[in-house]
Amino acid sequence: MRFYFIFILLLLLCPHLDSAVDDEVQYRNIYVDPLAGQNSVGIFITVQAAIDSVPENSRNWVVINIKEGIYSPSLTVSLSFESSEKVIIPQEKPFIALVGKGHESTHIVWDDHESIHQSPTFTVLSDNIVVQGIGFRVRTTHTTNPNPGKGNPRVPATAAMVSGDKVYFCQVAFHGVQDTLWDKEGRHFFLECVIHGFVDFILGNGQSIYENCTIVTMGDNLGFITAQSRTDPSESTGFVFKNCRVLGSTTVKLGRPWRCHARVLFYNCYFASVIDCEGWDLWLCTGQERQMAFGEYSCYGHGADQTGRVIWEHKFSKSEVQQLTDPSFIGASEWLNQPWWLSLPTS
Ligand SMILES: *[C@@H]1O[C@H](CO)[C@@H](O)[C@H](O)[C@H]1NC(C)=O
Repeated sequence: MRFYFIFILLLLLCPHLDSAVDDEVQYRNIYVDPLAGQNSVGIFITVQAAIDSVPENSRNWVVINIKEGIYSPSLTVSLSFESSEKVIIPQEKPFIALVGKGHESTHIVWDDHESIHQSPTFTVLSDNIVVQGIGFRVRTTHTTNPNPGKGNPRVPATAAMVSGDKVYFCQVAFHGVQDTLWDKEGRHFFLECVIHGFVDFILGNGQSIYENCTIVTMGDNLGFITAQSRTDPSESTGFVFKNCRVLGSTTVKLGRPWRCHARVLFYNCYFASVIDCEGWDLWLCTGQERQMAFGEYSCYGHGADQTGRVIWEHKFSKSEVQQLTDPSFIGASEWLNQPWWLSLPTS
């Protein structure tokens, strides 16, 4: 009974799942509970152990239900929990849903840093993944460069890296300072997520819509929200922020190009007074202003004041905006089901 209830709840909250859950497709629930005994069938004491238990290349959804708690190598205060939790969903493990008890209740924490390649607390390499109700963190104490005299006063430390296709994050939080969320490649949908950071904290060459998300800036001088890395004008990638809010405690630019064909659109977003008046930065792409597509459309709030914006900001046409903000930009009809989509609860 409990199993069915939880699955129905999941369907209500993460609506596209039903496209794969029809009469022919099987799914099953498994559980992560650090306090469970070693011999409990279908209950794992770490998130990674639960992922490892999923058969390779299966097409049947497995829903991994994660209890509240802090899943980290050393914070074992509230849980008698010893394994480290740097969580990886490998390429051969598609159709997994990781479902926590809310991003303020279920935390996965790691304290790696140095580079975006080895540091992520959470890594998604496979396609068809759902993540809901979990907070991913890097410890901010490790984001300060011990030798600040040499260049960057911070070190990259990544809370999550996503390179699978068709990945859906619903009510997930990402906490970091520099390079928090590496939206590396693939089509992704982030709904009602919270992303914290300071420098280049949403980066990569994903093809993603961030809808109804909250972006929170924190830091000590001027930061940058995005560092998109589209490398070629023929690529269909880009970051689209739709009905999002940008809040926080430090001034940021909306983005700077990691590669010179970067594409980012903020659509109908609320900007608190944390947005630097120039809006965008050229970084290493001086002279290539026309290749980038960085723009805002129908944004509002103090930070949306256009006085002082860089002259090369891209003026997206109405039809470009329609194309980029439509669910078809991420091929939603292939993997996100429309009727359920519309019945999503707002929280
Ligand atoms: C995002 O929020 C708006 C306003 O509350 C709502 O109308 C819309 O359905 C939400 N989007 C999704 C995909 O839930």
